[in-house]
Amino acid sequence: MVILDQTRLPGETAFVVLRGLEDAANAIRVMQVRGAPLIGATAAYGVALALQEGRPLEDALTALAATRPTAVNLHWALKRMRLVLENSALATRRDLAWNEARAIAREDEAANAAIGQHGLPLLQAIAARKGRINAMTHCNAGWLATVANGTALAPIYAAQDAGLDVHVWVSETRPRNQGHLTAWELEQAGIPHTLIADNAAGLLLMQGKVDCVIVGADRIAANGDTANKIGTYLKALAAREHGVPFYVAAPVSTIDFACPDGAHIPIEERAAEEVGAGDTPVANPAFDVTPAGLISGVITERGIITASNLRSVMP
Ligand code: MRU
Repeated sequence: MVILDQTRLPGETAFVVLRGLEDAANAIRVMQVRGAPLIGATAAYGVALALQEGRPLEDALTALAATRPTAVNLHWALKRMRLVLENSALATRRDLAWNEARAIAREDEAANAAIGQHGLPLLQAIAARKGRINAMTHCNAGWLATVANGTALAPIYAAQDAGLDVHVWVSETRPRNQGHLTAWELEQAGIPHTLIADNAAGLLLMQGKVDCVIVGADRIAANGDTANKIGTYLKALAAREHGVPFYVAAPVSTIDFACPDGAHIPIEERAAEEVGAGDTPVANPAFDVTPAGLISGVITERGIITASNLRSVMP
């Protein structure tokens, strides 16, 4: 299985071959692949690779589940693989695993395309009022972070396809700089964008230079509280203060109906080296939680729902 190594972007386009379970687990852990839906799909393929190597199913599920804690798509995909595989005959297990991984990937592609179509009317309404749309996003929730089409960027791509004039404020996203991945994606797609330091977002919102904020999600609790890349919450607070709508775009697989609220979402703490402060003590939480009350709507493949009404899309 071949992946695009996101740790080398945007400077270099390098591909890496994943040959087995350890490669797949490592790719997720070190963020060669990243973004909740892509992590889920990669984990599913990781199970198929493990079985191909002759590794026990349980070992694969345990190793992959331990790679990153916050994105629930990882655990959702592993649960799906377990359901299909644990009672299957050994002779057919490998084929079943590859088929299920492919199904997860195909479904993600379709879900994200639908998110784009459901989000498009929001942007059309802004365009009708103001001409140019100024959207703001955080982190990277484009095609790189998914199997295809992206989540937060899906409505942006749909707007461009519909001929709307759309510009995107892209925050850098310290410490891992996923905003640079977003800028790279938008550059490739020919969509006007401006990279900003994370701390510039409040000023731009205050100055009326942002019509809407759209972000992705790593886990949405049953009450609508949403974990996404660290810094998302501050954008939501500033958006609320300045009357700017704040949307979360995510497939239903990102909703964790078993998780009652944001306080129960595990927040990944990453290595101090990512912040790079020498001997100074460092805290490096990789995600924060935006309370449901700050979210104007959740754009899913089933339509736009209010964060307090997630049960309406419960599978
Ligand atoms: O640590 P990362 O880069 O995996 O975090 C990614 C994000 O926070 C994304 O916004 C989220 O996964 C949505 S991706 C479509």
